[in-house]
Amino acid sequence: MVEARFTFPKGFLWGTATSSHQVEGNNKNNQWAIWEDEGERIDDNGRSGLACDWWGGKWKDDFDRAAESGQNAHRLSIEWSRIQPSPDRWDEDAIDHYRQMIRGLRNRGIEPMVTLHHFSDPLWLTDWGAWENEKVIDLFTDYSAKVVEALKNNVNLWVTLNEPNVYVAMGYVTGEFPPGKSDLRLAMKVMENMAKAHAAAYHRIKEIQPESMIGLALNWRGFSPKRRFNLLDQITTKFVNNLYNEFFPQAFTDGVMRFPTKKIYDERLVNTQDFIGLNFYCSELISFKLSKSFSDIIQIEQPDGVEVSVNDFVSNQPLEFFKSLKWANQFNKPIFVTENGTEDSGDDFRRRYLTEHIHQLWRAVNFNYPIRGYFYWSLVDNFEWSKGWTSRFGLWELDENTQARKKRLSADLYASICKHNALRSEDVKEFVPELTPKLFPE
Ligand code: BGC
Repeated sequence: MVEARFTFPKGFLWGTATSSHQVEGNNKNNQWAIWEDEGERIDDNGRSGLACDWWGGKWKDDFDRAAESGQNAHRLSIEWSRIQPSPDRWDEDAIDHYRQMIRGLRNRGIEPMVTLHHFSDPLWLTDWGAWENEKVIDLFTDYSAKVVEALKNNVNLWVTLNEPNVYVAMGYVTGEFPPGKSDLRLAMKVMENMAKAHAAAYHRIKEIQPESMIGLALNWRGFSPKRRFNLLDQITTKFVNNLYNEFFPQAFTDGVMRFPTKKIYDERLVNTQDFIGLNFYCSELISFKLSKSFSDIIQIEQPDGVEVSVNDFVSNQPLEFFKSLKWANQFNKPIFVTENGTEDSGDDFRRRYLTEHIHQLWRAVNFNYPIRGYFYWSLVDNFEWSKGWTSRFGLWELDENTQARKKRLSADLYASICKHNALRSEDVKEFVPELTPKLFPE
């Protein structure tokens, strides 16, 4: 067979994404540390512990791995509780630690994208009600300014908040994340404060670094009613879609926060994203269930007939990924896929998932959607929040007890994609032969 390749534009960013609490280890001053210690909150009673020991210096070897495998970008997050361990103190050593990590990326030819908030809050902020308290708007803005001042020489791409929709859904609807509540009124308050904090930080960062590009990383999931002709399923789907997928990006476009019960206009929110950061894993079905408990009313499940990961967490729906990119394109801004990936300790499903998603990414690029980069989640297995260590997303396998890493085949597949800036038929033949007839039919 003649070899074929699906090539990406020159300068396309290829990387992986991580977050502070999931990889650093020894994070004891945030709300997750307490949550983990409560026991029973995390699958198998997992603890983040040393995580991937990045705070202890293992970031160096992991960044070497990323660079050697052709990655030219990396998305990481800053741990607020380290930068500001108490309300009246900035920790200059911690800031310096991040400076070194960022320089470490640059020295390896890797472009950093830095997230300022990825689920973890300093404990002192939690004591004040965290994002329920509107004080957080100024506090987050000051913290953001401090970080941007310190790192701006080497960072141009900023993500203010990672998945505020997940923070709210898990912390204030299902209760699987701290603070473990199920309260629609509070959920809406938190959304409002998060939206305002993003906008305030956006403006402050622009004053400090006008040339920076600032965005949000939004978890996008395609939702469809489970029973297509059931009115309650249809209404529930619309309700979830509006709040989960549309609320933040719409508010940062026209300044209107559209809550189910009211609309709030705030001019500071207008046009406050320079790019769309899209985190896509999979799409799901929604149904309505009569229940006294708010978190039970909305039922979410994987559709029938799709291949699903070991713990039923992620399913392989590449066309839905294309749909999410099409959705992102409506905002007329550059698009970064800030996360995409799957758990898979066996690394068989992952190779199919990765290949088919990169294939759809390439199709979207060919529709001229302004896609600038792609970050696979994640570089190495890390602490997977409420799933603890039971869910393995890494290109490299991690033994969290010994800190040993082992390369998975997907790492080689992804390395070849990054190095050639293309998905090549010979790689598909080698790593996922079963997909050759589908992707390269002759
Ligand atoms: C989050 C990551 C998480 C990943 C896999 C995303 O929603 O940003 O922190 O590890 O999904 O669940």
